[in-house]
Amino acid sequence: MNREINGEILNIPEHVAVIMDGNGRWAKKRFMPRNYGHAQGAKALEAICENCDKLGIKYLTVYAFSTENWKRSVEEVTGIMNLFRKYLVDSVERSNNANMKVNLIGKREGLPGDIVQKMDDLERLTSGNTGLQFHIAINYGGRDEIVRAVRKITEDVKNGKLISGDIDEVLFSNYLDTAGIPDPDLLIRTSGEERTSNFLPWQLAYSEFYFTDTLWPDFDMDSLIEAVRYYNKRERRFGDAK
Ligand code: FPP
Repeated sequence: MNREINGEILNIPEHVAVIMDGNGRWAKKRFMPRNYGHAQGAKALEAICENCDKLGIKYLTVYAFSTENWKRSVEEVTGIMNLFRKYLVDSVERSNNANMKVNLIGKREGLPGDIVQKMDDLERLTSGNTGLQFHIAINYGGRDEIVRAVRKITEDVKNGKLISGDIDEVLFSNYLDTAGIPDPDLLIRTSGEERTSNFLPWQLAYSEFYFTDTLWPDFDMDSLIEAVRYYNKRERRFGDAK
């Protein structure tokens, strides 16, 4: 879809994925605790949902907490979990006002029970919304997602729902947490790191990657437009010849 943004015609990606990195460094620069940076990161997350919607982006998927993030200090993990609690509850009204449908991807197992309940509530209470489809990856690891998909497929072969010949890329995709969602067109990672850190390894196979030094709490509408501009300079061929 093309859209005029500040006098420029831009092709808007349908699905944007984001690795929100740099909250800790943002806080450190201000002599503040890391969890203050995460709280600012949560505000930037609210803003990017509004901004994606304004630009006409249909799907947004963000990496909020990886299966590896449990290794951080107890204080930081507790702070992030408390932030999730508040965010998940506050998101119900905000999402419904914005017609936004929210889904949580990742492994529910291992998360505190009350958080899982809040995740389920948010999904259920926004399931009828038809605007931006917003996916938050919590306790997510791409390899873990693939292993869970293989387990489910194996179960379905065992109980006769599938035969091995049915398994192809389309079927496999439908066993992932992102079933039914088109693959991301554009991946954004903030804070100068240039790796994907186990985020959507299957789904990002043909995506364009945009890396910026901007720290996540500073990522605003201008930063998003800059990423879309970069996307517009790329030529996507999906393995085809020119
Ligand atoms: C990366 O910054 C950020 C995280 C691991 C946590 C992401 C969490 C948020 C953006 C909070 C909001 C999310 C929700 C769903 C409320 P970092 O801590 O790795 O930063 P650093 O690399 O500068 O240390």
